[in-house]
Amino acid sequence: MSTSVASKIVLITGANQGIGFAIAKTLSSKPAYHVLMGSRDAQRGIDAAKKLQGQGLHVEPITIDVTSDESIAKATQQVMKQFGRLDVLINNAGVSLKEDGISGLELRNIYQETFAVNTFGAALTTESFIPLLKSSPTPRIVFMSTVVSSLANEQKFPAFLPVYRSSKSALNMLMMHYASMYKDAGWKVNASCPGYCATNLNAFAGMDTPDNGALNAVRLATLGEDGETGTFSNKDGVIAW
Ligand SMILES: NC(=O)c1ccc[n+]([C@@H]2O[C@H](COP(=O)([O-])OP(=O)(O)OC[C@H]3O[C@@H](n4cnc5c(N)ncnc54)[C@H](OP(=O)(O)O)[C@@H]3O)[C@@H](O)[C@H]2O)c1
Repeated sequence: MSTSVASKIVLITGANQGIGFAIAKTLSSKPAYHVLMGSRDAQRGIDAAKKLQGQGLHVEPITIDVTSDESIAKATQQVMKQFGRLDVLINNAGVSLKEDGISGLELRNIYQETFAVNTFGAALTTESFIPLLKSSPTPRIVFMSTVVSSLANEQKFPAFLPVYRSSKSALNMLMMHYASMYKDAGWKVNASCPGYCATNLNAFAGMDTPDNGALNAVRLATLGEDGETGTFSNKDGVIAW
């Protein structure tokens, strides 16, 4: 598969299914984008990439488990060797574990597993890829958040999924941190809520499609020079913090 040096190199974590897969499909449909489809399981990544390669799209699988420093470092080395830079990082990998009616040690484990992927995983992946993003003329980072992480909107979803939503509230702060750090350098760093989409995460109970869930993330990944940074939005506009 030919990748012109002019291509934008994109890494999406958790792209073997769901919204990450949909983002990979939409972004790689644009001629200027070459997408590295992150998957924690190598074979699932190969299978997912094959589906899009079969449609002539510029994607390739890359193994990355965001809870493993070794796996993050290996993926970073691979991108370094192959491309020497990264233009777009989409921190999409996420879990929402069963938390209703859970207590004690089991609840502690649910907190640890959830934050390990949704928050610490996104933080450590971003840290690892910062040097490669610095080599891009137009770095973009998208953090996949959710409207239920909004403190201002807590009462719209009262007493709901405290583990999952707090892991994403913390993610929003991380996004702001990186947005501030690289604002003067012109980076565009934002958080996106995909909406309630039917994916494995919610046993396919969501009302919207993954393709629609991808829309705002794709917009943020492809922002021009005058695009926003340090924002939290969905496809309908800005979300209150
Ligand atoms: N669906 C919604 O309604 C909704 C709403 C708001 C926000 N979101 C957010 O959107 C993002 C995508 O979710 P989705 O709905 O598309 O869910 P999904 O279909 O379950 O996809 C989640 C992806 O994350 C991957 N993943 C899980 N743990 C990982 C790890 N340790 N390292 C690397 N990848 C890992 C999964 O890999 P495996 O296939 O190996 O499990 C999968 O590829 C998540 O951050 C989620 O919180 C979703």
